[in-house]
Amino acid sequence: MASVGVFDSGVGGLSVLAEIRRIAADLSVVYLADQAWAPYGERRLREVRSRSVAIARYLIDRDCDPIVVACNSASAAALHHLREVFSDKRFVGMEPAVKPAASQSERGVIGVLATEATFQGELYASVVGRHANGTEVVEQACLGLAAAVERLGPDHPETIELLATYVDPLLAAGADTIVLGCTHYPFLMPAIRRLAGDTVSVIDPAPAVARQAIRLVGEEPRRAGKTTFLTTGDPAAFAVQVESLLGVAVAPERVEIARQCEIYVVKGDLTRQDVDAIVNAANDGLQHGGGVAAAISRAGGSLIQQESDDWVRRHGRLSPGTAATTGAGAMSARYVIHVAGPIFREGQDNEGLLRAAVTAALEAAVAADARSIAFPAISAGIYGYPMAEAAAVLGDEVVRWVDRHPGALDEVRLVGFNEEAADHLRTALGRARSGSSAG
Ligand code: DGL
Repeated sequence: MASVGVFDSGVGGLSVLAEIRRIAADLSVVYLADQAWAPYGERRLREVRSRSVAIARYLIDRDCDPIVVACNSASAAALHHLREVFSDKRFVGMEPAVKPAASQSERGVIGVLATEATFQGELYASVVGRHANGTEVVEQACLGLAAAVERLGPDHPETIELLATYVDPLLAAGADTIVLGCTHYPFLMPAIRRLAGDTVSVIDPAPAVARQAIRLVGEEPRRAGKTTFLTTGDPAAFAVQVESLLGVAVAPERVEIARQCEIYVVKGDLTRQDVDAIVNAANDGLQHGGGVAAAISRAGGSLIQQESDDWVRRHGRLSPGTAATTGAGAMSARYVIHVAGPIFREGQDNEGLLRAAVTAALEAAVAADARSIAFPAISAGIYGYPMAEAAAVLGDEVVRWVDRHPGALDEVRLVGFNEEAADHLRTALGRARSGSSAG
């Protein structure tokens, strides 16, 4: 029988857990605090995203469904992505409660307190775009505040002093409604109320998120209300925190979630992948005229062809086991790694050539200091490699390489441009994984 999984970088998600337990004390919940990695809000979004995937995978392995991403920073970085990667699981995420705040503000000015990561994510921009409705939204990134709640506690004078430096500008801007856009902040509610006074309302999204998680569970069988507390940090220290924040004595377990490379399939447009490097299935002269190469060249702009021409002038044509790295122009990736997969034909070692191209791309990513990379099904388009076979070679080579190079990358995406291609890649990856764990 499944449990509800709840995770956060630390104690913040306890504000959501408390609501879940208040409404549905009979639910079985596994709470995971990723304290070895906290704070999330000051890390790069891509880093938080791959960490969130690793945590979700861990919770899924512990039979959790749905999973509540009880952290605004992780939701901003990863919610959409988690739903794509674990498409058969349910995720409930957090978004700053701009909608209710905008509808209740009388002065038409609301303030949002959140981490830097939350403000950077697309989720926040889309929430404001959809729900601000002409209301002025004043954003306040609260550097160090979640960490202060975590380390010192919400009542410590230094925490309150820091909080005041973030609340004051919102009041000065005339906000009459404050949104708590980080799950650590509800623990600061009494202090915020003291600082802001009675005329300002403060919105905590935890109850709404808890209700959504409970709705998802619906009438599914529930276990006897057991909550398991896990931390990647120090369990004794976490026990003290839980006791002081929730008033319950618990015995948390320490869990190890190693930095591991996540490999998965997504369906979509390669050029729009939010990764450090995308792989181009190029020709050996790096003339990006057709197929994936043309799409990359269009999306990135003229820089891609210019840098490719420079590369060929300096190094000559691209040989099968080599990669050429250029910038990515207007795309969100930092690099394009060009490899020349084989044009499929009888009488040559198609598989060996394709494997060499895949390895060259992975090695070039590491050389460029990229942590995440996205592959198309190299050679499977206009180069005529049968899709299922090309996918099998790609999946297998990536899995083997990642096994041999632990920690070298955080994320490898295999991108299928349509459902059929993505299905081939999923099948291939599944087979490669079972082969690698068996061997
Ligand atoms: N509680 C989290 C959030 O909602 C994370 C804070 C942090 O780790 O920086 O954003």
